Amino acid sequence: MVDLTKQEQQMFDGEMDEAAQQSMEILVALARIYKAKRMIPVKSAQISGVSYKTIGDAGLEYLQDLVSKGAKVGIPSFLNPAGMDISQWRDMNVPPDFARKQIEVLDAYSSMGIMKSCTCTPYLIGIIPGLGEHVAWAESSAVSYANSILGARTNREGGPSALASAICGVTPYYGLHKEENRKAKLQVNVVCSLDSLSDFAALGYAVGKLSNRKYPAFKGISRASKEQLKVLGASMAASGSVPLFFIEGITPELNISDDPEIREIGRSGIEDAISELDSGEKPDLVTLGCPHASIDEIKEISELVMDKTPTVKFWICTAKKTKEEADRLGLSSVIEKAGGRIVSDTCMVVSPLERMGYSVTGTNSAKAAKYLPSMCGQRTVFGNIRDILYR
Ligand code: F3S
Repeated sequence: MVDLTKQEQQMFDGEMDEAAQQSMEILVALARIYKAKRMIPVKSAQISGVSYKTIGDAGLEYLQDLVSKGAKVGIPSFLNPAGMDISQWRDMNVPPDFARKQIEVLDAYSSMGIMKSCTCTPYLIGIIPGLGEHVAWAESSAVSYANSILGARTNREGGPSALASAICGVTPYYGLHKEENRKAKLQVNVVCSLDSLSDFAALGYAVGKLSNRKYPAFKGISRASKEQLKVLGASMAASGSVPLFFIEGITPELNISDDPEIREIGRSGIEDAISELDSGEKPDLVTLGCPHASIDEIKEISELVMDKTPTVKFWICTAKKTKEEADRLGLSSVIEKAGGRIVSDTCMVVSPLERMGYSVTGTNSAKAAKYLPSMCGQRTVFGNIRDILYR
């Protein structure tokens, strides 16, 4: 039995519009599955299922149908990366048939009132939920960052449930929305130094694999930048579906159960993860910015490539707002002179990369290295930025 407020009941009964009714039905069905007794208001929604590659015609028709039923979002809502950069797709060799469908998907979301900014790092462009704030976010690395680094509360939503929450403004109250479920049952003692983003990515990949559905709490990491934290969380989400972690002295919360499983990880564990992800080849394309790059990452890359031109073509994925800043600061032209390109609101994993002429892709992201083979038919090269750009 799900206890609905008057307004939720009106949506459920179809007294608003058909889209709200359909959305509330999804949320009530979820509540029943997860035994949630009520809904909880959410302040924002991040919606996945944006690339035409992942949703196909069935997904596009679902969205267009919702639009025809009057769907409008009731809370600030934004999108996950699309399958292409809307302003550079021709230069990137994206097939026109794909581009046409992708534009239709974005138009459908836009007519529901959803911001067209498509990023997995909304927290880098000013969308920053506060400690204890309930949200309905969908992309796994964004979910991890929101829960762990910001201390917000979100389950990992699917595309349709995040969209339903965007329309209704609520989500079922279960899982990571409840304090009692936000506990680490795995303690990971890190006994080596972590030198680069790819080290954090490899650590996350290794810990995700051994986490066995337990949330980890790290000890022994004395400092980490926001870029390293986003990569750590993204990797654990990719290899172990981990939506929440803690780091002693760094995350705003540290809740460890009384009797956690204790594991130790050192340099050899990190090297094992790196060699599992790296085919050892020379890439024909390098993609950076998974999760989407911050302006500081772009600055760092531009300094590197200004000194020495990479031996391979490279793309940096980021949010449109960050790309605009990079343009303003003159970083985009430095990158372009060095054979690179900053691409916005897209990500190579959900792009039609296999139709764009590439077969070996380099990355410093364990998440991208894990998914590029299955999603894009790529062999992957994994390592730190310097290694993969000059291999
Ligand atoms: Fe973001 Fe795509 Fe990586 S959604 S986390 S850039 S796989």
